[in-house]
Amino acid sequence: MKTISIFTQKGGVTKTTSTINISGVLAELGYKVLVIDFDTQCHLSLGYDVDKETEYNVEEFLNSVEPIRYAERGKHQNVSVISGKLKLSTKSLKRDSLKKPLKKIEKDFDFCLIDCPPKPINDDLGFGEIAIFASDYIISPVDYDAFTLDGLTTLIITLDELQQREKLTAQYLGFFFAKVEENTKDFKEAYRELSESEISSLLFKSYVRKNAFIRTSINTGESAVFLKPFSPVSMDYRKLTDELLMKIKIDAK
Ligand SMILES: Nc1ncnc2c1ncn2[C@@H]1O[C@H](COP(=O)(O)OP(=O)(O)OP(=O)(O)O)[C@@H](O)[C@H]1O
Ligand SMILES: [Mg+2]
Repeated sequence: MKTISIFTQKGGVTKTTSTINISGVLAELGYKVLVIDFDTQCHLSLGYDVDKETEYNVEEFLNSVEPIRYAERGKHQNVSVISGKLKLSTKSLKRDSLKKPLKKIEKDFDFCLIDCPPKPINDDLGFGEIAIFASDYIISPVDYDAFTLDGLTTLIITLDELQQREKLTAQYLGFFFAKVEENTKDFKEAYRELSESEISSLLFKSYVRKNAFIRTSINTGESAVFLKPFSPVSMDYRKLTDELLMKIKIDAK
């Protein structure tokens, strides 16, 4: 099982939407996917229409309560979800708290995607930090405003420090633009600047266009690729997932 954290400190950049839709594409390709809602906002659970409080949730998973109960989602029945918990706290957790229970189920899935909350890594242990220490890979959706691009630099430096000093083994595979308005000057400039920058190898060539259909899919509790396979957003997530799989293949060589 390859574990991927969808992580960035910035809020509202499509971490949750991307987790749902990349999982949808992986399921469509025949992979078995586990999705973990690791954000106390529980938007992923809401997106998948998984009841927040009654189902087996991430707190029980962290405490290794057996048997593990997943909510099955998606037309192909290949997506299993561990729902979030609104009142979950990191007080009793450690950096390796998620790594341990994931180890137990590593033979049951091909991929595990973790939806992280929008919180920077700092001295207080956060869910994002626990998630990345349980992961093989990290990816981030980004916007193209100046604040996001500035945050991206901080993120890359922080991850690098964690790899050097704290034995973080997860590879940062990079960032992709989401909610893109393709023909705008702002997007074209940001894409070109990053393509020519020293971090260009971290820029995904694929990006996800802004599309109103995504709201319908979230409201229906399904990934866009299942609901409307040929919508622009479904096509974009397929391209993005192909690129992600390619990066993983290259890393594994
Ligand atoms: N391709 C898209 N086109 C248009 N709107 C989108 C697209 N993708 C996501 N959105 C919308 O953007 C908003 C933020 O998305 P989402 O909740 O996935 O972000 P997030 O990074 O998980 O947020 P948070 O940091 O709060 O967890 C939502 O209203 C979602 O419907
Ligand atoms: Mg979210």
